[in-house]
Amino acid sequence: MGAVLPTYVSSRENQVKTKGALLWEPGTRSGWTVEEIEIDPPKEREALIRLAASGLCHSDDHLDTGDIAIDWAPMLGGHEGAGVVEQVGPGVMNLAPGDHVVLSFLPSCGLCIPCVAGNQNLCDLGAGVLAGTAPDGTHRIHARGQGVGAMSFLGTFSPYCVAPIDAVIKIDPAIPLDKAALVGCGVPTGWGSAVYAAETRIGDTVVVVGTGGVGMNAVQGARHAGASQIVAVDPVAFKREKAKEFGATHTSPSLDEALDLVVEITNGRLADRAIFTSGVGDGKLLNATQVLVRKGGVIAYTSAAPQHQTEVTFDLFTFAMSNKRLQGTLFGSCDPRNDIPMLLDLYMRGKLMLDELITHTYALEDINQAYQDMHDGKNLRGVIVYDQ
Ligand SMILES: NC(=O)c1ccc[n+]([C@@H]2O[C@H](COP(=O)([O-])OP(=O)(O)OC[C@H]3O[C@@H](n4cnc5c(N)ncnc54)[C@H](O)[C@@H]3O)[C@@H](O)[C@H]2O)c1
Ligand SMILES: [Zn+2]
Ligand SMILES: [Zn+2]
Repeated sequence: MGAVLPTYVSSRENQVKTKGALLWEPGTRSGWTVEEIEIDPPKEREALIRLAASGLCHSDDHLDTGDIAIDWAPMLGGHEGAGVVEQVGPGVMNLAPGDHVVLSFLPSCGLCIPCVAGNQNLCDLGAGVLAGTAPDGTHRIHARGQGVGAMSFLGTFSPYCVAPIDAVIKIDPAIPLDKAALVGCGVPTGWGSAVYAAETRIGDTVVVVGTGGVGMNAVQGARHAGASQIVAVDPVAFKREKAKEFGATHTSPSLDEALDLVVEITNGRLADRAIFTSGVGDGKLLNATQVLVRKGGVIAYTSAAPQHQTEVTFDLFTFAMSNKRLQGTLFGSCDPRNDIPMLLDLYMRGKLMLDELITHTYALEDINQAYQDMHDGKNLRGVIVYDQ
């Protein structure tokens, strides 16, 4: 990254004139429009970040398909980014220009009850991440003369972003920023789904359903937690092959075919944990996941299901009589401020695979192709790299 800032202008009340990928008609699968945007200078407790890279998480695509429904537009996408602090707003004590940072898709204020109780992934500020404004209810981003909402208060599908400092995590400047970006969402979400939400223990057999950008990190998390057998279930052969490199000991192309395999490799005892990280949550697949898990076992559910889908197929009798646990998980139940630096430390010590997650890099202008590649099963993670 050079020091030249070709898109920064000091006119128009110090706005940054740059570009961003917007959804003008969320829920219609009309894709992203890359166009000129203006970003206001940071206000109180905010920072302006010059981004190095942004991961292409499936959750942004859910906004385009309508699986995650929002009733406002336009939306600047992107919530998995890393970069360098350019400017800080009033009252910011813990960040300075030049700091290297990861942006967390969930803010943690450190003051609300969930935060002080140790559940920073459930910070009360998180309730507003799809509200379409900054936490104070106003817009920082503008396009075509109107306010633009930003995914997760961030909007990392732009070379610049103004973020609340509650979502800005300072990191060691030695860490490559394109790899660090992935630790803003997909890596902790998958890793924590295995380690914290499913509570994987030494010797466990763990099934991971869907080994994409999130699920591949559930495989890594299960390995770190000492699982002896990890079954990767994914219809895409390329994902199954890659899962073996991340620690899977067995693979299956479908949940149905996984049953015989799990019965065989556990001598009929079944898996201790299953983690659901498929691209789109599906209530019809919940029971097929449950039947893979032993009595007393845990099913961690991470995927975003279509919001309108409220019915699931589930054998409640067996569930209760087998003392099983179904555990939803947000951000893999991680604490962004603790776990983002910790995971990056594991990476720097060669114990967490990040380089291998990045299958393709893209220019922002190629974002629709990048999401097509995700749907075509070509990417573990596609990453937009900013040229500045
Ligand atoms: N709970 C959270 O905090 C949180 C955070 C981030 C992402 N998510 C959600 O996690 C999910 C996964 O995101 P991602 O970025 O890894 O998506 P992805 O598209 O990279 O990966 C999904 C994987 O699921 C596989 N798959 C599709 N259908 C399947 C099936 N029937 N059985 C098994 N595997 C199947 C795909 O082949 C792909 O490898 C998304 O729904 C995303 O919105 C949740
Ligand atoms: Zn995400
Ligand atoms: Zn909080």
